[in-house]
Amino acid sequence: MNDYDVYRARVDTCLNASLNLNNTPATLKSAMIYSVFNGGKRIRPILVYATTEALNGTLDQSDSSACAVELIHCYSLVHDDLPSMDGDALRRGKPTTHIKFDEATAILAGDALQALAFEVLSNDAVNSLKKVQELAKAAGADGMVGGQMVDIAAVDTAISPALLENMHLMKTGALIKASILMAACDHDLTHQQLTGLKRFAHNLGLAFQVKDDLLDVQGHQSATGKTTGADQVMNKPTYVSMHGVSGAENILADVHKEAVLALEGFDSKADKLRSVADFIVLRDC
Ligand code: IPE
Ligand code: IPE
Ligand code: MG
Ligand code: MG
Ligand code: MG
Repeated sequence: MNDYDVYRARVDTCLNASLNLNNTPATLKSAMIYSVFNGGKRIRPILVYATTEALNGTLDQSDSSACAVELIHCYSLVHDDLPSMDGDALRRGKPTTHIKFDEATAILAGDALQALAFEVLSNDAVNSLKKVQELAKAAGADGMVGGQMVDIAAVDTAISPALLENMHLMKTGALIKASILMAACDHDLTHQQLTGLKRFAHNLGLAFQVKDDLLDVQGHQSATGKTTGADQVMNKPTYVSMHGVSGAENILADVHKEAVLALEGFDSKADKLRSVADFIVLRDC
């Protein structure tokens, strides 16, 4: 993933600037910074920038989108790890925010990161309203938060394969799709281009969570930075619990193929975007 270091450095500069808050209680600010600068892969910002390049755009027009979607993602992780949600103690190889600080601080840090995301995005001079709408829809009740609700309600129950797919598309796919569609907001796309990007985003989002489910079983804590086997302990429905390891691997391969096919109409400027799809399938973290 060294190809993406430029993207990572760019978004980290924006994240740093956005967290340079002057009037924030010190503990809250520390918890926000801790939750953002703790070694995330920055896949969503990478997708924003790679889509921008695929569409022949300039990276600076996508800084706010990249920063905003990572802030939402980091907030989602802080809340996902809370004792009332997944109850995880390890994230990105470090104690989760509620362990490092306390539960109330973690809840508030998540809340503040979410608000900050929209503040950052609304500062964009061009197309900010369209981007705010994309991100808000993806983060909210019909997107990530809705998917998290399905996830929590599904613990200890048998759900259908269709509901499991939808849960993954909501809780994880929605922010991945928004990363791509926010970048597209700055461009006049043909119907074919937009359809291709949406199909790519849909399949990539699903692939990402199927791989996350596999890593929970196959991964190593030293690489993932998360407690291995947590889904089984919580009795979570996942692609592995429903389809078995090889079933989940086959589905992952199919979804990856669909994602790559969806970009057929794009030229070599989309190669970095294509490589993200490969990385998502091959990653060990
Ligand atoms: C983990 O996301 C949570 C999911 C949505 C599956 P990432 O694997 O992108 O986590 P970081 O940001 O790299 O820590
Ligand atoms: C998380 O899914 C999705 C979010 C919206 C944060 P998981 O609960 O499987 O993510 P990890 O495995 O804790 O990173
Ligand atoms: Mg979860
Ligand atoms: Mg979790
Ligand atoms: Mg997981």
